[in-house]
Amino acid sequence: MAAARLCILLLLATFTVATAQVRTKPAKPSDTLDKTFHQQRREQLRKQLPHHSVAVFFAAPVRNRANDVDYYFHQDPDFYYLTGYEEPNAVLVLFSEPHNVAGEEVKEVLFVQPNNPREELWNGKRLGVAGAAQELGMRAEENTGFAAFTLDTVALQHILFKELPQDVRDDASDNADLYSLLQQFKQKVSIPASFDPSRNMLYGIVREQGAAQPAEVKNYLNQMLRYNPGLQQDKYLNSYLQAANATDRTKAIAAVPASKLDAHTLEKALTEMREIKTPEELQLLRKAVKISCLGQVEVMKAMRPDMSEMELQGIHEFVHKKYGAQHVGYPSIVGAGNNACVLHYIESKKPTVGDDLVLMDVGAEYKGYTADVTRTIPANGKFTKEQKQLYELVLKAQQAGFEQCKVGNSFQAPGVAAQQIIADGLLKLGIIKDKADVRRYFPHGTSHYLGLDVHDAGTYGAFKPNTVITVEPGIYIPEGSPCDKKWWGIGIRIEDDILITEKGWENLSELAPRTVAEIEKTMAESSALDDFNLPKLD
Ligand code: GLY
Ligand code: MN
Ligand code: MN
Repeated sequence: MAAARLCILLLLATFTVATAQVRTKPAKPSDTLDKTFHQQRREQLRKQLPHHSVAVFFAAPVRNRANDVDYYFHQDPDFYYLTGYEEPNAVLVLFSEPHNVAGEEVKEVLFVQPNNPREELWNGKRLGVAGAAQELGMRAEENTGFAAFTLDTVALQHILFKELPQDVRDDASDNADLYSLLQQFKQKVSIPASFDPSRNMLYGIVREQGAAQPAEVKNYLNQMLRYNPGLQQDKYLNSYLQAANATDRTKAIAAVPASKLDAHTLEKALTEMREIKTPEELQLLRKAVKISCLGQVEVMKAMRPDMSEMELQGIHEFVHKKYGAQHVGYPSIVGAGNNACVLHYIESKKPTVGDDLVLMDVGAEYKGYTADVTRTIPANGKFTKEQKQLYELVLKAQQAGFEQCKVGNSFQAPGVAAQQIIADGLLKLGIIKDKADVRRYFPHGTSHYLGLDVHDAGTYGAFKPNTVITVEPGIYIPEGSPCDKKWWGIGIRIEDDILITEKGWENLSELAPRTVAEIEKTMAESSALDDFNLPKLD
């Protein structure tokens, strides 16, 4: 009997193991970026590297929340874009041409966290070296090997890196944590303690473009020096700026100290690459935006005046998770009435939204790509006359912004068009006396790129095809503003995510109701949450 039971148990155990093995290897959903995507990004970057160069990237730091609790780890978007690796304490080394490392020709290496059963018991599975090589399709080594990894700094003419973080905690027990990896890199390529990335960048720009584009370079330098008082006395930059003619300019450029260390080229290259989305990226962005819109629709149906800002935020984020969006791309902004006038209000503290307009700027992040969608709706389901007047003004401004989203137009074009309409409208309503005062009530920009970051990398030059931007005009009239009291405590932003194509523009977030009529109609619909009643807390 006992033997039979043992047999059954063994059979069951075998079956369970077999099932577990099947379960641990699920087919990847088709909307996951695979290793080919990241390999292609590395090749795209490699083509832009100067000859005899190495590019070194670091994973994002782990940030401590308090005591022994860290914030949820979020990979550096450039690092993710180039590797797909989602863990900390990692380094990517990418050579422009195969490079001799201890007798071996090496094109690229990813240094990763090794497997560690004790760490994995507490903090979850690591990809490890073999996993990284297989899943990410690249040469991988343990991060503990980075210290001894030799870079031939004589043969290498350019050492490229992004600005290195200064505020990384040292885990003294780990000689391959980010702190140690950064120290090892600085020693390896001799980065002096006095290294100033901004100065390095400006020197690089003067040396590389100062002769061919003097007007643009001078203009850029002047702007940068305004924000960088520490560089205003720099003798090399000043002698370039003060050069009276081409001969003086050539002399000034020749005097600018040259360095193998380059902290600006990678930033520029990644900015240009990430601005243009590939079809795989657009698929993920579309999904993130759609999920955010579904959140907006559900909240429109569920909202009641006795709900709190926090509760409404929770409904958005619950819907996101229900559809598989792991995170929000930025802290959710849900503000009623006067709170809506704080542009990045993230406290969600108001216990009841009452009869106010509620501004909800909430973006689902799906597989790393984030949406950024804002709707502003009346908590009781009906716009008042004043709310409607201002709302329709913002809507009209947004539409004018959309029409400017054309390849070749300047990045500022939507904002210029939107601001013009809001200025005219506020003047007509008597809220401002002079169009120049429009910035008091519409104090932010109208557009930014969208992608792995909510304020994504991009050149902010003329629009190019396959870029995604927001169009988000607003009007905010806090209590105490110098206008009729009837406008006080109204904050409105309408934000949509626009794909710019060769043919025109497409509103990726059109699923979220936008007009007064559409919003009021949706708010009148019943919600699955109408009967969601929890017991009262004492
Ligand atoms: N949610 C931040 C922004 O709209 O830019
Ligand atoms: Mn935005
Ligand atoms: Mn937003």
